[in-house]
Amino acid sequence: MIFDWVPESTRNAGLGALMKGAGKVTRYIPIPQPTLMVGAGSSARMGEVIAGFGHKRILIVTDSMIAKLGLLKGLTDALSAGGADFVVFDEITPDAPIPLIERGLAAYQNSDCDAIVAFGGGSSMDAAKAIAIASANPKPLRSLAGYLKGLHAPAPIYAVPTTAGTGSEVTVAAVISDPEHRDKVVIVDPRLVPKMAALDPALMTGLPPHITAATGIDALTHAVEAFVGNWKTPYSDGMALAAVGLIFDNLRTCYSQGTDVAAREKMALASTYAGLAFTRANVGYVHAIAHQFGGRYHTPHGLANAIMLPHVLRFSAPAITDKLAALAVRAKLGDASESEDDLAEKFMAGVDALNRDLGIPLRLAALREEDIPDLARAACAEAATGYPVPRYMSQDQCEALIAQVLPTEADAASAAPAATKKVAKKAVKKGAPAKKSSTATA
Ligand SMILES: NC(=O)c1ccc[n+]([C@@H]2O[C@H](COP(=O)([O-])OP(=O)(O)OC[C@H]3O[C@@H](n4cnc5c(N)ncnc54)[C@H](O)[C@@H]3O)[C@@H](O)[C@H]2O)c1
Ligand SMILES: [Fe+2]
Repeated sequence: MIFDWVPESTRNAGLGALMKGAGKVTRYIPIPQPTLMVGAGSSARMGEVIAGFGHKRILIVTDSMIAKLGLLKGLTDALSAGGADFVVFDEITPDAPIPLIERGLAAYQNSDCDAIVAFGGGSSMDAAKAIAIASANPKPLRSLAGYLKGLHAPAPIYAVPTTAGTGSEVTVAAVISDPEHRDKVVIVDPRLVPKMAALDPALMTGLPPHITAATGIDALTHAVEAFVGNWKTPYSDGMALAAVGLIFDNLRTCYSQGTDVAAREKMALASTYAGLAFTRANVGYVHAIAHQFGGRYHTPHGLANAIMLPHVLRFSAPAITDKLAALAVRAKLGDASESEDDLAEKFMAGVDALNRDLGIPLRLAALREEDIPDLARAACAEAATGYPVPRYMSQDQCEALIAQVLPTEADAASAAPAATKKVAKKAVKKGAPAKKSSTATA
């Protein structure tokens, strides 16, 4: 990339000024917000409300695990009781692959639907958003990727997140994956923000510890990247800080005592607050790199973020000491009277400790050394063209950063995908956090 040939200071000044300029515009783009219903049973209450809207037929988009666990029951019972007609499409798999979205679109059209309930983790919610915009704009899904590529508004979307999480219930984005190109693409349109969302912690009590951990760190990453980036606003700062406080207070509890409904509700709120922060202020290199891991290796999104967050924070630290210090205070990792340097260090150490307590591996087992140049190139391009990061990387710097999470020979020898989950399951039974594994099992 051309940026590699200019000194770092010039690169940062150039790209930084460009992005800051863009941020002066983006801060005024109106972003709608959904009506939020919060608390155990809120998915049923939302069903009662939607039933009154008089939709012809509603498509519920979800995955087979959620359907099997019976998590839809509150919503579907309420829809039936209210006389609303609905169809369930439960074929979505992680990362919302385009062929499945196309099947969902066919279900929407064949059943003559006019509204969508996005029910599940980010994969189901984003698939639902993609179906909604594609139904109004008949063209290949990949060509809807980017900013405002659909002429017509999507069908109304209502959301029920079952992870905490992506924050997709309040964001302008739908992240989908293209198996043919082995990459992930993002559809961005303010009209993709759901009209209404139910944050129902009762649906989250069975979320396995390893998914609780990874999705929780995804929410933390949204808040942190929004807070340290150059598109921050007072509103996004407030949301990001609130999310960080709630996550440090509650994520460990959700991980070790998954049935704690109060902690689950706080994490659901944190995820939504973080979503509100980053849908305005955007994300950064953690996401730019995580998207490449997801596209190439199917690494779960939250896990990829969790592995990269400590490294990107250390790289960015010289440019964001004051912001890391503020985050440390909000996370109760230090006191405002301490020096900014000390507090910044405490925040980074606090993230390391949180990852460790949540069993997040240090390295990515699937990562192959020969892939690093391509991964870094794609991540740098993603960041340089869209993310207002506080410190830009050269290709070499990005490659070196990714190389830090290469598995070692010892990791390869001890890699045992099922083991991580077993340890985590035991931890829930005993109410103790799982032991840390050193590589991702994705
Ligand atoms: N649109 C956005 O703004 C945005 C933001 C961040 C991430 N994303 C995207 O979201 C996707 C990841 O979403 P995710 O992390 O929520 O995971 P996911 O939706 O892929 O779900 C992960 C797994 O958890 C299971 N699961 C979900 N809820 C459950 C529950 N309550 N109980 C038991 N099992 C449950 C699912 O069946 C699935 O197997 C990625 O594609 C990512 O790129 C989107
Ligand atoms: Fe994310």
